[in-house]
Amino acid sequence: MKPKILITSFTFPEVLEFTSAHFEVDDNQQRDVLDAPALRARLHDKDGILIAGGDRVDAGLLDACPRLRAVCNASVGYNNIDLDECTRRGILATNTPGVLDDTVADLGFSLILGAARRITEAERYLREGRWGRWKNDLLLGMDVHHATMGIIGMGRIGRAMARRARGFDMRIVYSNRTRASRDVEDALQAQALPLDELLASADFVCLTLPYSPAAHHMIGAREIGLMKPTAVLVNMARGGIVDENALAAALRERRIFAAGLDVYEGEPSVNPALLELDNVVMLPHIGSATRATRVAMGLAAARNLVAILEGGRPSSLLNPDALSRGRGA
Ligand code: 8YV
Repeated sequence: MKPKILITSFTFPEVLEFTSAHFEVDDNQQRDVLDAPALRARLHDKDGILIAGGDRVDAGLLDACPRLRAVCNASVGYNNIDLDECTRRGILATNTPGVLDDTVADLGFSLILGAARRITEAERYLREGRWGRWKNDLLLGMDVHHATMGIIGMGRIGRAMARRARGFDMRIVYSNRTRASRDVEDALQAQALPLDELLASADFVCLTLPYSPAAHHMIGAREIGLMKPTAVLVNMARGGIVDENALAAALRERRIFAAGLDVYEGEPSVNPALLELDNVVMLPHIGSATRATRVAMGLAAARNLVAILEGGRPSSLLNPDALSRGRGA
């Protein structure tokens, strides 16, 4: 008998075809809202799940899934999964690093350009019929080329941002828990700086670090206060890294120039204080949203499911300690 899995969100035919060859698949092509009770009901007899970053996997859900052996996130961030609870039960959890870096960095750069050159504000101005005549000082923005790019989190996505920044002749500074290798620094012409120095010197402060409790509100009023009045903050990581009330206050009082956000602390709810402002470009968490990349993420998660449920080792295992407590193949 094939193992049973649930795919919690709409997925692409390529992913359905691949998973159906290995598993009995309960899919959600109808796009039902699977809240916690609905998830529990559909998961009680499943061996694995393929989830998206918005699905929360916690002790309550795991308690209702006695057969579950694999939790495979179609997402690189995994703050939606309680890893300790998975490990305690011998359930393997995986993510999808590597397949989305360039797509997310493309969007990150569009946030940089969009916020610096006031793209969405300018479009609203035009659509609202407010474009009366040419003015020398109409919608003046900030130059991106030759500016200083500050990258907080020099992982794969941070490095992809740095490669793009090189094409704009930017100076690149970064801050990371551990310093990048000499080879990486040389290839990207990137200089490591302590966080406060980065905040004070960067024209663009770009967040590309994973969320962890230690990173919660790491960009708050004090940190924003260190930024230049002409600086732009871009968050493509997780909303909880930024204190959104402090950010909204700084933007309202023009203490920084602008922000570009793809992620929010309470998403899909958005802090109303941000919605009122013109100097913030806001997107609904679409960093990885191209068809090619979403298929690649789905297939990467599906391959992890196959590896786990057929007794192999998945390529991006988040909790190797669970192997010794495994529920078995
Ligand atoms: C996902 C993301 O689309 O991979 C991540 O960490 O934030 C996005 O690429 C999102 O998590 C939904 O799965």
